[in-house]
Amino acid sequence: MNRVFISGIGAEIPPDSISNAELVESFNIWVDEENRRRRGIGQALVEPSDSEFIVYASGVRNRHVYEREGVLDPDRMAPRIPARGDDEVSVMAEFGLKAARKAIADAGIDAASIDCVICSASHLQRPYPALAIEMQKELGATGLAFDMGLGCSSAAAGIHLAESLVKSGAHRRILLVTPEIISGHLNFRDRQTHFIFGDAAVALLIEPLAAGETRPGRFEITATRGWTQFSNNIRSNFGFLSRLSGDDPLTLPMHGQMIRQVGNKVFKEVTVAAAHFIKAFLADNGFSPADIRRYWLHQANARMNAMILKLTLGEDADFDRAPVVLDRIGNTAAAGAIVALEENHRDMKPGDIGLICAFGAGYSIGGAILKKM
Ligand code: COA
Repeated sequence: MNRVFISGIGAEIPPDSISNAELVESFNIWVDEENRRRRGIGQALVEPSDSEFIVYASGVRNRHVYEREGVLDPDRMAPRIPARGDDEVSVMAEFGLKAARKAIADAGIDAASIDCVICSASHLQRPYPALAIEMQKELGATGLAFDMGLGCSSAAAGIHLAESLVKSGAHRRILLVTPEIISGHLNFRDRQTHFIFGDAAVALLIEPLAAGETRPGRFEITATRGWTQFSNNIRSNFGFLSRLSGDDPLTLPMHGQMIRQVGNKVFKEVTVAAAHFIKAFLADNGFSPADIRRYWLHQANARMNAMILKLTLGEDADFDRAPVVLDRIGNTAAAGAIVALEENHRDMKPGDIGLICAFGAGYSIGGAILKKM
């Protein structure tokens, strides 16, 4: 069995950014217009959104998105992403490639030496050809490429799988890419969810270490784990059967097909499950929560992370122990924990232990214990 390490890390945050004030202003213009219409037909009114509530409930102050003007247009409230021809690089592959190229540069390797590309994300642009195969072609990589997904645990599940494939010797240089364009699947007219998410892409290179080998400054992956338990509390029904639910199979009835969640149930249930997962995962690998120098947690909700850390450690954790990026970039689904890792690892000392832990739809939880070399 090979030892396994992360040889490169890349993160791409799109330049377009939307503050809470901007998002709420556009939402509330839509609310006024919608309520005029609803009053006219005697329908129940919709409630306005509120910046202070957003910061209090989630910790999100700002998010970055693939395209901002369409989101902020009260007549549209969705990013404008023009269709591309089949001979052009697709939107999600292009976005993932930006992070992938950063990871490749960080590792200082030749992309042609990558023998496996995994694209693991909560939302995939199409069923086939796999986005990973498109990225494989664009990079000039060889071997195998495939897509997978596990909600917000997609990157963690990808690490779990990639670690096993490298450990067993099945592949020698795996590129794991997580491009999240969650703004494309979000209903910006839903007050419960419109403020939560943002877009980001991340990538990791995962490779074997020879016996006794050390790569100063890099992280050895000493253990990974995944966990799932069915829940409808975060759900997307969108898929190839969606077109068949209406009268006209050539038009897509999108009502009810975008992300829905019962936020307060998710909050309570996943917080408890994640703390339990972390404690058991660490204990089974000979660590106590106090041994962990840095926690790179899923970036869904600042209060949720604070509670998970308190339940795990028995005390509050500061930014240095558990960095927060969601205040600036929103919940970037499966990319968030890896953005936190990318931005907050260079100061760690040889021997320091860090934990990636992501959680979300499924329910799903995934973790990786990293040791700085
Ligand atoms: N503006 C103002 N008020 C709002 C609002 C908004 N945008 N959205 C909801 N509210 C109101 C609700 O209507 C409710 O009002 P009521 O008490 O009069 O009924 C109140 O705020 C509380 O709503 P609730 O949904 O219970 O809020 P919350 O404290 O649970 O926070 C979330 C909402 C979504 C931020 C929080 O539940 C959360 O982050 N959950 C986990 C999400 C998550 O991790 N998802 C995983 C995906 S990766």
